[in-house]
Amino acid sequence: MFCKKSTLVTFLFSLALLFASASASYSQDAAEGESLFKNNCAACHNTSDETLVGPGLKGVSGRRPIEWIVSWVHNPQAMIASGDKYANDLYNKFNKAAMTPYPNFSEGQIKGIIAYIDAANAAPAAPAAGAAPAAGAAPAAAPSSGGMMEILLVGLLIIMVLVLIALLSIVNTLGKLSSSEANESGKPFFQALSENAKSLAANSAVKTGIIVLALLLGGKATIDAAYGVGIHQGYAPEQPIKFSHKLHAGEYQINCNYCHTGVYEGKGANVPSANICMNCHNAIKRESPEIQKIYSALEKNEPIQWVRVHNLPDLAYFNHSQHTNVGALECKSCHGDVEKMEVVEQRSSLTMGWCIDCHRQTDVNSKGNAYYDKLVEVHNKDSKTPLKVQNIGGLECSKCHY
Ligand code: HEC
Ligand code: HEC
Ligand code: HEC
Ligand code: HEC
Ligand code: HEC
Ligand code: HEC
Repeated sequence: MFCKKSTLVTFLFSLALLFASASASYSQDAAEGESLFKNNCAACHNTSDETLVGPGLKGVSGRRPIEWIVSWVHNPQAMIASGDKYANDLYNKFNKAAMTPYPNFSEGQIKGIIAYIDAANAAPAAPAAGAAPAAGAAPAAAPSSGGMMEILLVGLLIIMVLVLIALLSIVNTLGKLSSSEANESGKPFFQALSENAKSLAANSAVKTGIIVLALLLGGKATIDAAYGVGIHQGYAPEQPIKFSHKLHAGEYQINCNYCHTGVYEGKGANVPSANICMNCHNAIKRESPEIQKIYSALEKNEPIQWVRVHNLPDLAYFNHSQHTNVGALECKSCHGDVEKMEVVEQRSSLTMGWCIDCHRQTDVNSKGNAYYDKLVEVHNKDSKTPLKVQNIGGLECSKCHY
C-alpha cells in the first residue's frame, strides 16, 4: 500500500513540476518581453491592431518572418535603405515616421517582445474573434496573461493537493475496511475516512509533499515579483564579445570616459562604438577570435550588439553629468567596482526609493560652484544640517518624471 501512495505522490509531483516549468518558461521570455515592450515600444505601438504612432503589432509574427522583425528592430533605417519592399511601403504609409532603432536588443529579447504580443492577443478574455473590431472590448485590461497564468497555476496546485489528500485517504480507508481490524471497530465508512484524513495530514510523505509545493510556489512568486516590477539588481547578461572591464579599466587603467564618452557631459554615458576599440585593437591581439568579432562588425557596418545592463523605464529621467560632473559622484557609488568586473553587473536596484534615499542623505557638492553659494547661505541661516540634494528639489516629482 505504501507503494501505491508513493506512486501517487510522484505522479502528482511531476504534474506540478510540469506546470511550474511551463509557466517559468513563459515568464522568462514573454515577461521580459512585456517589460521591454512597455518601456520601449508602447509609446508608439499597441499590442492590438490599433494604430498609435506606428502600426498595431497584433499578428505581426504572422505578417513578417521573425528574422525580418529582428533586423527591422535593430535598424529600421538600414532596412528601408536596403530597398526591402515591405519596409518601404510601410514607411511611406506612415508618412516616413522614423522608428527608433534598438541595436542593443538581442535576438532573444526581440523574440520575447513578440512572444509577449502574441500572448497578449491569445488571452482568453480577448474580444470575440471576427466580430466588429469597433466594439471596444479590449481596453477592459483584464490581468495580463502573466497574471492569469499565476492564478491558474495556484488554483490548479491547490486542487491537486486536495485531490491528493482525498485519494490517499480513500486508499487508506479501503485498505483498512477490507482488513478485519476495521470491521471489528465497526466504524461507518465516512467516519473512518475522516479519521484517516487526519492521520494522513500527519503522514510525513504528504507533509514533505506539501512543503515542497509551497516552496516551489513561494520561490517562483518571489522571482516573478522581483522581475515583474522591473528590478534587475544583479543582472549580468552575457555579452556578444568577451569584453572585460577588469582587464581594460582595472589592469590597463583606461579611464571610464575614454569609452563612455558622454558620462561627464551628457545625459547618457554611451557605450563605445567599435571604432573606439579599434584605436587599440587595430594593433593589439588582432588574431584573437574575440577581437575578430569587432572586425566583422565593422566590415558589416553593424554596431556590436551589446546587451544593455542598466535600463530605467522611460517615465524616469536620469542625467549622468548632473551626478558625475555637477555632483562629483564616482561611478562606483551607483555601479559598484566595475573595474573589478569580468562581466558588468547591475549592483543597484535603480528603483525610485534608491534615488530618493540618496537624495535625502547626500550633501550637495557646492565647492567651487558659485551657483550654489547663495543657496547654501540661505539654507545655513535656518538649518544646522548641511544642504542636501532634497533641499534643492531632489524630491520633486517633476525633476525625475517628464
Ligand atoms: C518612436 C516610435 C516607435 C517606437 C518607440 C517603436 N516603433 Fe516600431 N514602428 C514605428 C513606426 C512609425 C513604424 C512604421 C514604419 C515606419 O514608419 O518606419 C513601425 C513599425 C514596426 C514594425 C513593423 C510592423 C508591421 O506591421 O509590419 C515592427 C515589427 C515594429 N515597429 C516593432 C517595434 C518594436 C519591437 C519596438 C520596441 C522595441 C518598436 N517598434 C518601437 C514607430 C516606433
Ligand atoms: C575600453 C573601453 C571601456 C572602458 C575603459 C570602460 N568601459 Fe564600461 N563598457 C564598455 C563596453 C564595450 C560596454 C558594453 C559591454 C559590457 O557591458 O561589458 C560597457 C558597459 C558598461 C556598463 C554597463 C552599461 C549598461 O548596458 O548598462 C557600465 C555601468 C560601465 N561600462 C561602467 C564603466 C566604468 C565605471 C568604467 C571605468 C571604471 C568603464 N565602464 C570603463 C567599454 C568600456
Ligand atoms: C586603450 C587601448 C584599448 C582599447 C580602447 C580597447 N582595448 Fe581591448 N585590450 C587592450 C589590451 C592592452 C588588451 C590585452 C591584450 C593582451 O592580453 O595581450 C586587450 C584585450 C582585449 C580582449 C581580450 C582578447 C583576448 O583574446 O585575450 C578583448 C575581447 C578586448 N580587448 C575587447 C575590446 C573591445 C570590445 C574594445 C572596445 C569596446 C576594446 N577592447 C578597447 C587594449 C584596449
Ligand atoms: C547617481 C548614480 C550614477 C552614477 C554616479 C553613475 N551612473 Fe551610470 N547609470 C546610472 C543609471 C541610473 C543608469 C541607467 C540610465 C538609464 O537607463 O537611462 C546608468 C547607466 C550607465 C551606462 C549605460 C549607458 C547609459 O548611458 O545609459 C553606462 C555605460 C554608465 N552608466 C557608466 C557610468 C560611468 C562610467 C560612471 C562614472 C563616470 C557612471 N555611470 C556614474 C547611475 C549612475
Ligand atoms: C549616490 C547618490 C545618488 C543617487 C543614487 C541618485 N542621485 Fe540624483 N543626485 C545626487 C546628487 C549628489 C545630486 C546633486 C547634484 C548637484 O549638485 O546638482 C543629484 C541631483 C539629481 C537631480 C537634479 C535635482 C535638482 O533639483 O537639480 C535629478 C533630476 C536626479 N538627481 C535624478 C536622479 C534619479 C532619477 C536617480 C535614480 C535613478 C538618482 N538621481 C539617483 C545623488 C544621487
Ligand atoms: C529622484 C528621482 C525621482 C523622484 C524625485 C520621483 N521619482 Fe518616481 N520614479 C523614479 C524612478 C527612477 C522610477 C522607476 C523605478 C523603477 O523602475 O522601479 C520611478 C517610478 C515612478 C512611478 C512608477 C511606479 C512603478 O512602480 O513603476 C510613479 C507612479 C512615480 N515614480 C511617481 C512619482 C511621484 C508622484 C513623485 C513625486 C512625489 C516621484 N515619482 C518622484 C524616480 C523619481
